[in-house]
Amino acid sequence: MTTDNWTEIKAACEAALPADVVAFIASHQGMEHSESLLIATLHMVQASAGYLSREQMNAVSQLAQIPLAKVTGVATFYHYFRLHPRGKHMINVCLGTACYVKGADKIGQRLMSDLGIQFGETTKDGLFSLESTRCLGTCGLAPVVMVDEQVHGPVAPGDIATILDKYTKKEKAPKAPVQA
Ligand code: FES
Repeated sequence: MTTDNWTEIKAACEAALPADVVAFIASHQGMEHSESLLIATLHMVQASAGYLSREQMNAVSQLAQIPLAKVTGVATFYHYFRLHPRGKHMINVCLGTACYVKGADKIGQRLMSDLGIQFGETTKDGLFSLESTRCLGTCGLAPVVMVDEQVHGPVAPGDIATILDKYTKKEKAPKAPVQA
């Protein structure tokens, strides 16, 4: 933003956020901006956009009159907030105790290496996002990897390529012709 005009800045910030978030911030104007209020605002932004973009965090900072460093600090501190768009398929590696003792860290390493990303990131083609989680409730299958809603387990590092292939192939499969 290259203007000093508050009306223009405000309009640009309002345009960057969903209307309910703008209304929520406006309804708390003048009140002390506690961290819980900021968290609630960021939750609303993420619920609408799927993640928190730099532009949106800046808009929240401007409209709520909270330093940008505080907004980004909260967004990066809480694991729940995503700072990048979510991939089409969400991969969750369980790092809970039962999975960990059965080699979940090696599964995580293999996924990071095969996908070329770290935990919390999304592949360049937007196909996969990689996250870690604590106990998916399927410890009997440890170590476990969940892709979207499907649980895979027990998984060995050598199984990763096959699992990823299944989702990659699905994307490349020709679409069935539409019946007249
Ligand atoms: S610890 Fe991984 S499913 Fe329970």
